[in-house]
Amino acid sequence: MIRLLVNFLEALLNTFYRKRVYPRFYVLETVARVPYFAYTSVLHLYETMGWWRKSDWLKVHFAESWNELHHLLISESLGGSRYFIDRFIAHGGALVYYWIIVGVYILSPRSAYHFMQLVEEHAYHTYNTFLKEHGEELKQLPAPEIAIKYYRDGDLYMFDEFQTSHPSEFRRPKIENLYDVFVAVREDELEHVKTMIACQQPEAQDTFQSPHDANRSALPESIRAVIDAQTSDIVRAAEEEPVELT
Ligand SMILES: [Fe+2]
Ligand SMILES: [Fe+2]
Repeated sequence: MIRLLVNFLEALLNTFYRKRVYPRFYVLETVARVPYFAYTSVLHLYETMGWWRKSDWLKVHFAESWNELHHLLISESLGGSRYFIDRFIAHGGALVYYWIIVGVYILSPRSAYHFMQLVEEHAYHTYNTFLKEHGEELKQLPAPEIAIKYYRDGDLYMFDEFQTSHPSEFRRPKIENLYDVFVAVREDELEHVKTMIACQQPEAQDTFQSPHDANRSALPESIRAVIDAQTSDIVRAAEEEPVELT
């Protein structure tokens, strides 16, 4: 079921978005942002009903959706949402995925996190391929204002918040051109993968904390080992099996 949902999204992008990279990124970022909204909706409901209270999870998932919002704004600034048909596909897909993930998250939070781990892996692959194929031309193009503000000149609290694997040393991307922007976006996708892996661990309910939690302790070694092993596999696979963008 989870693999099927991911395959459908990948097939949609591979079928309709060959040679149209910015609309492809726009659709991907619109749909891929929705699960974080689904998680926060369900967690919010649990809190309101007094069933479960863990504000760190709400905070981190909101920061993840805030990060994906900025990927979306970057794709829009590059013309990704110019055509009605792309907005229609993105909005329709987002609506369908939202309700499916709400249901999956209620029944099995771990499955919902696994789904998002796979989507984020696909996003990492996509941006890695794009950087390899278009790196030189991207270095000649300016960074959009929204990216400069989000990654460099603005308030970076929310940017730091979703990166749960960096307790002491926060990332500070260099943003001088469009290439740097897509490197930052690609690395964000890997940070989402790491957060999703951490959320699936059996001990996560006791150990998972916001990076800004004053009483935060380092990630347990067992979780760190799983994250390191899985992310190195993902990075290797992205190098060996590029996504077909054209
Ligand atoms: Fe993204
Ligand atoms: Fe993502």
